[in-house]
Amino acid sequence: MRIVLGVGGGIAAYKVASLLRLFTEAGHDVTVIPTEAATRFVGVATWEALSGHPVSNSVFDAVHTVNHVRLGHEAELIVVAPATADLLARAASGQADDLLTNTLLMAGDCPVLMAPAMHTEMWQHPATQANVETLRSRGVTVLEPASGRLTGADSGPGRLPEPEAIFTAAMALAGASAVRSAPAGADVEPDTGQAEAGPSVVRPLAGLTVTISAGGTREPLDPVRFLGNRSSGKQGVALAAAARDAGARVRLLAAHMEVPAPDGVELLRVETALELRKAALHAAADSDVVIMAAAVADFRPADVSGTKIKKRDDVADPVINLVRNPDILRELVEVRDAASRTQLIVGFAAETGDAGGDVLDYARDKLHRKACDLLVVNQVGRDKVFGEDTNSVVILSRTGSEPQEASGSKSDVAAAVIDRISAELSRVVPPA
Ligand SMILES: Cc1cc2nc3c(=O)[nH]c(=O)nc-3n(C[C@H](O)[C@H](O)[C@H](O)COP(=O)(O)O)c2cc1C
Repeated sequence: MRIVLGVGGGIAAYKVASLLRLFTEAGHDVTVIPTEAATRFVGVATWEALSGHPVSNSVFDAVHTVNHVRLGHEAELIVVAPATADLLARAASGQADDLLTNTLLMAGDCPVLMAPAMHTEMWQHPATQANVETLRSRGVTVLEPASGRLTGADSGPGRLPEPEAIFTAAMALAGASAVRSAPAGADVEPDTGQAEAGPSVVRPLAGLTVTISAGGTREPLDPVRFLGNRSSGKQGVALAAAARDAGARVRLLAAHMEVPAPDGVELLRVETALELRKAALHAAADSDVVIMAAAVADFRPADVSGTKIKKRDDVADPVINLVRNPDILRELVEVRDAASRTQLIVGFAAETGDAGGDVLDYARDKLHRKACDLLVVNQVGRDKVFGEDTNSVVILSRTGSEPQEASGSKSDVAAAVIDRISAELSRVVPPA
């Protein structure tokens, strides 16, 4: 496929070199058009060497080929990353003051995907939001930026989505069947609520079954008492909604939750770790992705009284003996590997640091022990995470790629996790 890769003048331009590699390694023919500002961040030589094509940002270079007309007509997909606030504005207002904006105007029916990246204030500014709205109303797919650490010390929505996530969305948009042969490829559906020229909705998990556990298990002591934990289920529910919106068939294994399950998912209620284990192993048997976001009790009472334990003056205070619960995450990985099944397994870890190491040290150790594909780590304690509406996580991958931070509302974090899963899936199964 002939792809035009527009690069805007944002700090994230360097990440687009990886995106370019993903396109070329998948066999696509890519012409890079950086803006003049982009060449201050990454030089033309990098784009020429990685794409194998000459690179220009002016309509007055190689005039005999009328570059913008040729590129606009020949492109089968245009991807702009990072789409700066300025580029979004220029594209929305139809300006044609450099090679990239000229090419965008010449592109006709060619699918266009823009991946914005900028500081949160710029992204949330009404002018930028209006430009995004305008572009979407014309059929341009404008991705939501990821949340997390920005250029300075601040964080919030505005990060460039990971190159793998942009790659997956771009392939889905172009309808490239080569994205992944199995499980069924990502899908792009017109938003049925919109007019014909309305925005495209990228559904990178279309055709996939995703099992998600959420909430906190409760381990009974007697008919009225239990050992529980502070999990509210909000993060798991946000993940279920995000996976559903990404097109997946979602099974939600719900332990105790303080929030309702989202619409449009298959709900199975569980109480204890043992019930969750049984449900998870059963559901995983035909799932493409398993996300274990529930807070599962590590221990349960060794003996469960059939009647309420009485408080009596003539009897010594009861002692509760605990036994270890099975390690569900580890078992899911073992069953998958024994069956040589293609399945992505994602664990969640709630960690606290101590004198023996920081949160990431413990999380890396856990990832190693559990051998799941991704581990989403949050730091817990005091008023952090449990029951809150916001979260801040680091996503670790077994492939050893850079830890990815995500923060914001639990929906923002869920979207980042689902993006990352989509990206991992496109990497796990090589293009056909
Ligand atoms: C260090 C630095 C980082 C920048 N990062 C961004 C960014 O991430 N997003 C953005 O919209 N603008 C960013 N800008 C501002 C753009 O470079 C500026 O608006 C420029 O005019 C964009 O040009 P272009 O849209 O033609 O690429 C940054 C500027 C500097 C100096």
